Amino acid sequence: MQPVFYLFGAFMGVLVFSPGSCVPTVTGLYGETIEVPCNNGNNKPEGLIFTKWKYVKDDGSAGDLLVKQAQKDEATVSATDGYKNRVSIAANSSLMIARGSLTDQRVFTCMVVSFTNLQEYSVEVRVYKKPSDPVIRNKAKELENGKLTKLGDCVVESGNPSANLTWMKNNLPLVDDGKTIIITPTVTKDPVTGLSSTSSSLQYTANKDDMGSQFTCSSKHEMGNQVSSSEIFPIHYPTEKVSLQVVSQSPIREGDNITLKCQADGNPPPTSFNFIIKGKKVTVTGKDVYTLTGVTRDDSGTYKCSLPENDAMESTQIVTVSFLDVSLSPKGNVSKNVNESLVVSLDKNSSTEAKVIWKKDKRIIDKLPSFSNLTYSDAGLYECDVSIEGIRRNFSFRLAVEGKPKITSLTKHRSYDGKHKVLTCEAEGSPKPEVLWNVNGTNEEVTYNNGKATYKLTVVPSKNLTVTCQVTNKLGQEIQEISVFSLFEKPPPKPDMAGYGAGQAKVIVGVVVGLVLAAALVGLIYWLYIKRSRQGSWKTGEKEAGTSEESKKLEENNHKV
Ligand SMILES: *[C@@H]1O[C@H](CO)[C@@H](O)[C@H](O)[C@H]1NC(C)=O
Ligand SMILES: *[C@@H]1O[C@H](CO)[C@@H](O)[C@H](O)[C@H]1NC(C)=O
Ligand SMILES: *[C@@H]1O[C@H](CO)[C@@H](O)[C@H](O)[C@H]1NC(C)=O
Repeated sequence: MQPVFYLFGAFMGVLVFSPGSCVPTVTGLYGETIEVPCNNGNNKPEGLIFTKWKYVKDDGSAGDLLVKQAQKDEATVSATDGYKNRVSIAANSSLMIARGSLTDQRVFTCMVVSFTNLQEYSVEVRVYKKPSDPVIRNKAKELENGKLTKLGDCVVESGNPSANLTWMKNNLPLVDDGKTIIITPTVTKDPVTGLSSTSSSLQYTANKDDMGSQFTCSSKHEMGNQVSSSEIFPIHYPTEKVSLQVVSQSPIREGDNITLKCQADGNPPPTSFNFIIKGKKVTVTGKDVYTLTGVTRDDSGTYKCSLPENDAMESTQIVTVSFLDVSLSPKGNVSKNVNESLVVSLDKNSSTEAKVIWKKDKRIIDKLPSFSNLTYSDAGLYECDVSIEGIRRNFSFRLAVEGKPKITSLTKHRSYDGKHKVLTCEAEGSPKPEVLWNVNGTNEEVTYNNGKATYKLTVVPSKNLTVTCQVTNKLGQEIQEISVFSLFEKPPPKPDMAGYGAGQAKVIVGVVVGLVLAAALVGLIYWLYIKRSRQGSWKTGEKEAGTSEESKKLEENNHKV
């Protein structure tokens, strides 16, 4: 049979022909007016005399409710029981029952009587009431790991029909397995209203993974589904492991504080701990840390923590306090004589192998020289940087190597242009020796490096010279000499170039004069022979020492030739 639906005015009712029965069903709400339709509104036949509503009482006797004559506007209520003041009839002949209750869940029959016919139409009434939202009561304070514990009761009250309750963990339904999850439902009916209250008790065996799990209870009802607010239960489990941590940053150095933290994996965590500090037991209560202040290398060692009630459960840490002791000898400024020896000693004592970096004059050197036979180049600023992780120490000494000056060479050579002689005097000594030349010169040049000094002097010797180089410092002096021959074979020919120190013109003149002299030698000798009595005499052997006066004459004579 096809179900037929009807919508009724102020509330919703559903008229259903239940399968297997010819009596349609209508649903009303508890406390509201229930409308019971008569043959779906098709109830006004030709020659209608009256319409009557009736029902069958619980004891089986007939219960008349009301009669409406077709000609009259008002119906006559014939009920004498609880329906007396609650029933009325609508224009379309629907029975209206005010303040619906569960006792109204029965079959009502409408009887339509006309001149030619009598028809009866029965309707079954159901009354629904939405129950209260589910709440969890009698909640457990905590759950114990592995132990079946009553978690709570989920309760919904005053509903019809009764609601179905489901427990959920993290939104997934829990199913009674008779062992780790036991769900006990109970339904109670109010003896007066007949409304049902449903309760569901959950016993649950929690494990550590249930930490933070959300438990909810969901209620399923014809009038709508509801979910309780979620509950999270602390889960208690005993400590299985303790772990000792050194909270302080590594490396720990002397003077630092060490904070030890003992953690236990139980819930709730233990309230007191034993710290075993190198064999000495300290019990702390209300916290899980222990601090040692201003540690020294003697505090290195084995540290433990355990639980006061269970010494066997312990955790161990080896603590190392880093230290670095270094002493360097010598220190500060050290002055030594050349060829002496210097003993450098670096003593170090550290918790781990220390790294040593030597620097000489800010440059890293592979290792310190032996210094068994000091040279001038050994002088300098020596720095050493000794470090282990977290600790670094710096030391330095400045070594001066001193010695009396010693001339290592004295040489001469002609400049490239042939116009000067350059004297080079090389000496060793420290502090830097001062030089003293016995001749005047130009372009005096001094370099001094690693105890080696080089002095240069440019001279223009007009005659053979014995040049001395004298070097002096606070420790002594040395002198050496060298012969320097005159640059000139003959006196310079040009009068204006006569000065000894004059520049390159002299060289040009010298070359020209040399060539001219060679070519004109024969003529010159002849000419001299002729003029001898008139102009005085000079010797060819004296030409290098000739005066400027003589050079002038020679020049004039050359021109005449
Ligand atoms: C009967 O009349 C009421 C209004 O009085 C209306 O709400 C209802 O839908 C009608 N029922 C039928 C079956 O026609
Ligand atoms: C060097 O020149 C100065 C004057 O400039 C003079 O007094 C001194 O005698 C000269 N020395 C030599 C060695 O020629
Ligand atoms: C300079 O010395 C050289 C070589 O000893 C010699 O030949 C020359 O005559 C000397 N000159 C003077 C001007 O004394």
